[in-house]
Amino acid sequence: MKQILITVILCATALIGLRIASPKQESKSTVIETIHARRSIRKYKDTPVEKEKLEQVTLAGIAAPNAMNRQAWAIRVIGSKEWIKRCTDAYLPTIEGTPMGEHLLTPDFKNMFRNAPAVIFVAAEPSAYAGVDCGILAQNMMLAAHELGLGTCCLGSPVGFMNSKEGEPFLASLGLPEGYALQFAIAIGYADEAPEAKPRDQSKIVFVE
Ligand SMILES: Cc1cc2nc3c(=O)[nH]c(=O)nc-3n(C[C@H](O)[C@H](O)[C@H](O)COP(=O)(O)O)c2cc1C
Repeated sequence: MKQILITVILCATALIGLRIASPKQESKSTVIETIHARRSIRKYKDTPVEKEKLEQVTLAGIAAPNAMNRQAWAIRVIGSKEWIKRCTDAYLPTIEGTPMGEHLLTPDFKNMFRNAPAVIFVAAEPSAYAGVDCGILAQNMMLAAHELGLGTCCLGSPVGFMNSKEGEPFLASLGLPEGYALQFAIAIGYADEAPEAKPRDQSKIVFVE
């Protein structure tokens, strides 16, 4: 009896010890809470995003449902400040004097990826559902990022540049498989703003009797 009691006490002590030693959980929010808490972030701290977090985010991405499990996507992660700066330097002359230039070039402008320290490009194979697959992958990544304390913003605007003559070296540097088309970029980093939720039109939802 005494031996059992000692074993129980030892196990309990070990478990408490393990709890203390284990890394702090980022969050305990539910998926639905995370969905409603996510925002597009356009101001980021300079803090680089840890590679492990980028790995977790991209692994959550490819866990997305996708047509016939073709996984018709390609994901390219850019964590290099230099790459982002070179790309932005090439981009800026192309928007000078345009409405996009006025829109983007605010006093706190850092780079063309909504000022994020890292960016994830997503490209699709030329197949029927690949665009849908990439969209679901993106939402998985953005929700996972939020759960890990990161902000994101899905960006369609860099695609036109990347497909242009000026953007060609940057697109080429992504090494996408033959025939794959860039869909969007996801800016990612530690948020330096906390915007309110944008309104949603609930009349878009109709329950058909
Ligand atoms: C396909 C797609 C393209 C987008 N492109 C841009 C973009 O180029 N620049 C930008 O600032 N936000 C972009 N966004 C973010 C949207 O503006 C944002 O999701 C929307 O305003 C709703 O705000 P919320 O994400 O905070 O809920 C894009 C979002 C999606 C899904």
